[in-house]
Amino acid sequence: MKAKTQVAKISTKGALVPALAPTAIPLKDRRLNFGGKWEYAPSPEDAKSYPIALRHELFINGKFVVPAAGTYFPSINPATEQQLTEIAEANAADVDAAVKAARRAYDRVWGKMPARERGKYLYRIARIIQEKARELAVLETIDGGKPIKESRDVDLPLVAAHFFYYAGWADKLKYAFPGKTPRPLGVAGQIIPWNFPLLMAAWKLAPALACGNTVVLKPAETTSITALRLAQIFQEAGLPEGVVNIVTGAGATGAAIVNHPDINKIAFTGSTEVGKLIARSMAGTGKHLTLELGGKAANIIFEDAPLDQAVEGVIAGIYFNQGHVCCAGSRLLVQEGVYARVVKKLRDRIQTLRVGNPLDKNTDIGAINSAGQLARIRELVQSGLDEGATLQQTQCALPARGFWYPPSFLTGVTHAHRVAQEEIFGPVLSVMTFRTPEEALERANNTPYGLSAGIWTDKGSKIFKMAAKLNAGVIWANCYNKFDPASPFGGYKESGFGREGGLPGLAAYCRLD
Ligand code: NAI
Ligand code: MG
Repeated sequence: MKAKTQVAKISTKGALVPALAPTAIPLKDRRLNFGGKWEYAPSPEDAKSYPIALRHELFINGKFVVPAAGTYFPSINPATEQQLTEIAEANAADVDAAVKAARRAYDRVWGKMPARERGKYLYRIARIIQEKARELAVLETIDGGKPIKESRDVDLPLVAAHFFYYAGWADKLKYAFPGKTPRPLGVAGQIIPWNFPLLMAAWKLAPALACGNTVVLKPAETTSITALRLAQIFQEAGLPEGVVNIVTGAGATGAAIVNHPDINKIAFTGSTEVGKLIARSMAGTGKHLTLELGGKAANIIFEDAPLDQAVEGVIAGIYFNQGHVCCAGSRLLVQEGVYARVVKKLRDRIQTLRVGNPLDKNTDIGAINSAGQLARIRELVQSGLDEGATLQQTQCALPARGFWYPPSFLTGVTHAHRVAQEEIFGPVLSVMTFRTPEEALERANNTPYGLSAGIWTDKGSKIFKMAAKLNAGVIWANCYNKFDPASPFGGYKESGFGREGGLPGLAAYCRLD
C-alpha cells in the first residue's frame, strides 16, 4: 500500500533528499526548557573511529623511537580527566639526537634541495592534512578540550592553509625579498603551546621548511597527540628523514632545545615568563630568536558602533576557544553612553552559550585545558572580586568531571586591577568604560602587552585614527579573531618580537644579508 505522507522525494539528480526532515520531531519536543532558551539534541562527533595508541614515542630521524631514559607521562582528556595515552619524555640526550638528525638532514638533503622540490613536499603535506582533517580535529578536541566546531572549522582549515601558503613561497623566495639572496638559517628549535596545538605547529613548521631549514619541534606537554599524528603524515608524504623531529616533554625538554649549542634559531610561543627566561639564556649566543608571548587586548566599542554586531564580536573575541587565545579580547572598553545597553546584551548573550562536551557539534565552550590553567583563572577572578569588581556568570550546569569554567564577565574593573593587567587565558572578560577616543587609547595601551586590539565603530576615519595610535601588532576593525596565512601576526612590548605569517613570517627563517 502506498504511504499517505511522503517523507522524502527524489531530487532531480536522483539523490534522496528529506522533504520534511527538520519537522519530523514536533517543535515543542525539540525545545527543552533550559533557562527559557533553546537547547539542541546531543550531536556528538564519532570519536571511536579514531583510536589513540596507548603509548606515543619520540619522532627522531624519520622514525618513532623510545626515549633514552624510558620515561613517559600521561596525557589526559581535560573534559573527562581520563588518561588517553602515555607520551615519551625527551631528555637532553634525546634532544641531542634530534638536533643531530636535523643537522644531518639540513647538510645533506633539505638545505641543498631545489626550492621547488621542497615546495612539492609542503603541498603534499597540506593535501594529506586536508584528507585527514576530520580525524585531526577529533584528536585535537579530545586531547585539548576545544569544541569540535572550532577544531573542525577554524583550526584545521587554517593548518592546511598555512602549509599551502608557504608551499607556494618555497620557490619564490627571491621575489619575496627583491635584491637579496635569502638563505636558510639551519636548524630551528620550535617550542609551542597548548591552545592551538596543530595550528601553532603549522605556523612554525611551514615557513621554516619552505625556507630550507630543518626543525626540532616540541609540542606542549598537555597536547602532544596531534603533533605526533602530524609526524605520521610527514612519513606518509615521504619527507626525508630528520627534516622534522618531534620531541615531547615539559619545560626541561624545551630548555634542552633552547640551550643546545647546534641550534641556529629558536621560535617560541607561550607565556611571557618563559619567553623572558629563553631570551635571557640565549643572550650573546648569536642564535636567532622570535617570541610570541601573551596579550591583554582591548576591544573598544564606540557609541556609534552597531551594538549587536559588536557584542557578537566581543563574545567571539573572549569566549572563543575558552579564552585560551593570546590575542583574546580580554578587556572590553565601552563608551559611557552605551555601557548599560552593551552590558545587558552581553548578559543575555552569554546565557545562550552552550558549555559542555567538546565533541558535541553544538558546543560553544569546551573544557579548560588543564587543572593548572583552571586554577589560574579562578585565582585571577578571585583577585578581581577582592579588588571590588562584580562577577556576572551564566547559570548553566557544568559537567561533574573535567575542567570547566562558565563564560563570565567582570564589571566595575579599574585599570589598576590585576584582571585588567594580567593575561587571564580563560573565558572571562573585564569590562571598563571611557568617554573620549583619547581616553580609550590611553586605557587600551595601558598594559605591559601589545599583541592585538579591536575597534567597533561606524566611522572609517575613527578606525584609522585609533589604529595608528594603538600599540598592538594586530588590530581588527568591526570584527575579531580573524586569521589568514598571508597576514602577519605578532606583538610589541611584553607580547614578544618577530612576526609569523605572511612575508615577515618568511623573513624570520632566512638570512637576508
Ligand atoms: P608555558 O610558557 O610554560 O608553556 C609553553 C611551552 O613552553 C610549552 O611547550 C612548555 O613545555 C614550554 N616550556 C615551559 N618552560 C620552558 C622552559 N624553561 N624552556 C623552554 N620551554 C619551556 O605556558 P603555561 O605554563 O602552559 O601557561 C601559563 C600561562 O602562559 C597561561 O596562563 C597563559 O597566560 C600564558 N600562555 C600564553 C600562550 C600564548 O599563546 N601566548 C600560550 C600558552 C600559555
Ligand atoms: Mg591532553
